[in-house]
Amino acid sequence: MKGIILAAGKGTRLYPATKTVCKPLVPVYDKPLIYYPLSVLIQAGIKDVLIIVPPDDLEQFEKLFGDGRNIGINIRYKEQKVQRGIADAFIIGESFIGNDSVCLILGDNIFYGRCMKNAIEKAISNNSGAAIFGLKVEDPRPFGVVEFDKNGKAISIEEKPEKPKSDYIVPGLYFYDNEVVKIAKNLKPSARGELEITGVNDVYLKKGKLNVIALENLIWLDAGTADSLLEASNIVCKTQKSHDTNIACIEYEAYKKGYITLERLKKIGESMEKTSYGKYILNICKKE
Ligand code: G1P
Repeated sequence: MKGIILAAGKGTRLYPATKTVCKPLVPVYDKPLIYYPLSVLIQAGIKDVLIIVPPDDLEQFEKLFGDGRNIGINIRYKEQKVQRGIADAFIIGESFIGNDSVCLILGDNIFYGRCMKNAIEKAISNNSGAAIFGLKVEDPRPFGVVEFDKNGKAISIEEKPEKPKSDYIVPGLYFYDNEVVKIAKNLKPSARGELEITGVNDVYLKKGKLNVIALENLIWLDAGTADSLLEASNIVCKTQKSHDTNIACIEYEAYKKGYITLERLKKIGESMEKTSYGKYILNICKKE
């Protein structure tokens, strides 16, 4: 399975903070925002990752991750020249996806919770069609909203409805079979001029191939505005301190998967030994 991080948003809702540093590279507490989605892909066992970046920002991403070798994975980059919507990721990534299945995660979505491991395993085991997630929120209107029947089967999906048919939204983590490329290519732009991911999910739903997995007891944050970014930083800081952990430590996730050795993990920790992030890694090395 291939993995795509769509990190091409200019972050205009965060201006002037993101005038010179693009949104995925803005820190959420102790690490750049993009670490959070990348850690989810590593947890899913995905080793081939395409990061779709805003035009002219490629160099900064390369500076951060290089080709991924440092953490034992392969990272490639492509620019999204025109903001054509989330489903455009499958058109940009067509040759990268090849004949494989694909997991897409949005560059500003943060997922953290024990249920993630099980949820990801369930999504991956669903090897034909699509697997997405459903998460109960207070105000579903700014998101993709999924409606269920009495038996918990998804029966409709709508993008940013004024009158939502349920409180369940679809967060930015999606698993698809190879057909997604063809489906994305056949989509028509929505009223806001975008190739909507909800349009892709609706095609799968109508074919009876959309599996919606419920997520519970989870921290989910979409860090698109100054307030949500600050809230995300505060939540990450508080959770890390109270649970003596580090959310989205990509090097530790890579070590757990066996992609890097303990020696390499230690070296990475030593290169950041002055920070709590580096200290966390070094502490793990001591315990292992
Ligand atoms: C996008 C998707 C929406 C999804 C949300 C999750 O919204 O279109 O379906 O629920 O991401 O973050 P947008 O970021 O385009 O407002």
